[in-house]
Amino acid sequence: MMNKNIDWQNLGFSYIQTDKRFVANYKNGTWDNGSLIDDANIVMNECAGVLQYAQTCFEGLKAYTTKDGHIVTFRPDLNADRLISSCKRLEMPVFPKDKFIDAVTQVVTANADYVPPYGSGATLYLRPFMFGINSVIGVKPADEYQFRLFATPVGPYFKGGAKPITIKVSDFDRAAPHGTGNIKAGANYAMSLHAIVTAHNEGFDENMYLDPATRTKVEETGGANFLFITKDNKVVTPKSDSILPSITRRSLMVVAKDYLGLEVEEREVLFEEVKDFAECGLCGTAAVISPVGKIVDHGKEICLPSGMDDMGPITKKLYDTLKGIQLGEIEAPEGWIHRIK
Ligand code: PLP
Ligand code: COI
Repeated sequence: MMNKNIDWQNLGFSYIQTDKRFVANYKNGTWDNGSLIDDANIVMNECAGVLQYAQTCFEGLKAYTTKDGHIVTFRPDLNADRLISSCKRLEMPVFPKDKFIDAVTQVVTANADYVPPYGSGATLYLRPFMFGINSVIGVKPADEYQFRLFATPVGPYFKGGAKPITIKVSDFDRAAPHGTGNIKAGANYAMSLHAIVTAHNEGFDENMYLDPATRTKVEETGGANFLFITKDNKVVTPKSDSILPSITRRSLMVVAKDYLGLEVEEREVLFEEVKDFAECGLCGTAAVISPVGKIVDHGKEICLPSGMDDMGPITKKLYDTLKGIQLGEIEAPEGWIHRIK
């Protein structure tokens, strides 16, 4: 097959419709087998559970062309597990793990022409999602659901790629204590929209959310977890029940410890400590690792010693090692790479 005529180097993070998507339906207590379809549009009742009470959750993962020309995805089993946790918390039927992996394989295979070439810096972003589709007017879970998975080629999440970004400490919360911050509910992202538009209008790239109960601890951003590097090269990441358990962050902690021999700590991180860190990065599937150069707290600037020009040295090592594993340049830990072609 031939790659599509796309300017891979200049892709941003936006939707480009691809040829095939996978659709499965849940009705009368069971999932059908599902199939690949051409139609990117969905027709549903005006009273569908997703439209009235936001009963929806999603996932995000990527397909890569490796150095030796294979097409792979990265730890899709963990996306399947996380979707299952999201479904349970939102009173949705779980989408089985084997069906999830099969849907990933089918969609990537059917859209292989859209997987960006090795070395282009772009990837094929996969968006699995599920929603309540039958009519629901009293507040209760739907009885019928649809699972879909589509693919779209993407470049860097933040314009400028690996250039350090500036973030602000948000006055808004994205998640409540004992709420849904630890699952990938669409509602969490709806909650964050006013905050991100406000941040952008004020000239910031993203928000740092603090813990909603005490506003003293670092949580995450609207779409990525935090990694901090101490001045003695320790990798520190916030632990909280109201942040999303990022697959990228969990992988980077393994990379830091086992590949780079660094000390790692997953623990509560007080906002008070942030001024003492040497480097800061945002990590996630879309963000990969985006370095943070400056954090602004109500006009008070915290400038990371790594500066505004380049990634800090430890962040760069983590980034290069993770990318190397995903692109087949560095041997991956057992089970991390799911080869499709
Ligand atoms: N935190 C939030 C709120 C996210 O939306 C994401 C993106 O999926 C992440 C963290 C990073 O998670 P992952 O590394 O699994 O993509
Ligand atoms: C991802 O990284 O896959 C996400 O879902 C984050 C979103 C902000 C695009």
